[in-house]
Amino acid sequence: MKQQIFNDYETLSSAAADLVLETVKQNPGAVLCFATGNTPAGTYRLLAEKARAQAADFGQCFCFGLDEWLGVPPEKNGTCHQILHEQVFKPLGIQSSQVHLFDGMTTDIPAECKKMNEMIRQKGGIDLALVGIGLNGHIGFNEPGVSFALEAHAQELHDSTLASGQHYFSEPTPISRGLTLGLAQLMKARITLLLASGSGKAPIIEKALEGPVTSEVPASLLQQHERALVMMDKAAAAHLTK
Ligand code: PGA
Repeated sequence: MKQQIFNDYETLSSAAADLVLETVKQNPGAVLCFATGNTPAGTYRLLAEKARAQAADFGQCFCFGLDEWLGVPPEKNGTCHQILHEQVFKPLGIQSSQVHLFDGMTTDIPAECKKMNEMIRQKGGIDLALVGIGLNGHIGFNEPGVSFALEAHAQELHDSTLASGQHYFSEPTPISRGLTLGLAQLMKARITLLLASGSGKAPIIEKALEGPVTSEVPASLLQQHERALVMMDKAAAAHLTK
């Protein structure tokens, strides 16, 4: 695992956007996985600007969504569907045929997960997964205690995830469970890029990067990923000692 520390959120977001652009320039058919959340929003804004300025072509890439709320209609503000379409797919001209997202309205969770796993295999695995970290150390909806061996699965959400999750919706929305890619899939990604910003993330960044590898802090598993890259701003890195 490598680490990069940036002065602020804007320079962090710019570097992350550059990495996505570079990945697609080097491999136009790259398989990408995107998370939603406050942290990657700046990356997506700058990615759209840079892609436009550089006439980058995303016409051959393929995109997966990291997770989705169960039981929330896809068109609702705050879903992975809606956010990725607004912030990533529409601005980059990525067509729906180039995208596979979890169906949060599924009535057959095992089939939905199987479809995701098979699609990822069929595409040859993920080249670049861009993820955030929750205050409890989760990645996607891989909550503390999760098995490192899991691929796509449904997960009961922890209280802190439910509380922070509510902020993504424009109106109170009942949420309790989510679908997520598993850590086994993120560990196989050719690059797993974890972004962290702000002093609120400093304690969990210290645990994830310098503490023991434990399922109680799911992101700590990235210590064992040779091509994991943690990009953070100074505020998020403030508790690191090494
Ligand atoms: P955030 O969410 O980027 O909105 O802080 C990260 C996460 O919970 O995974």
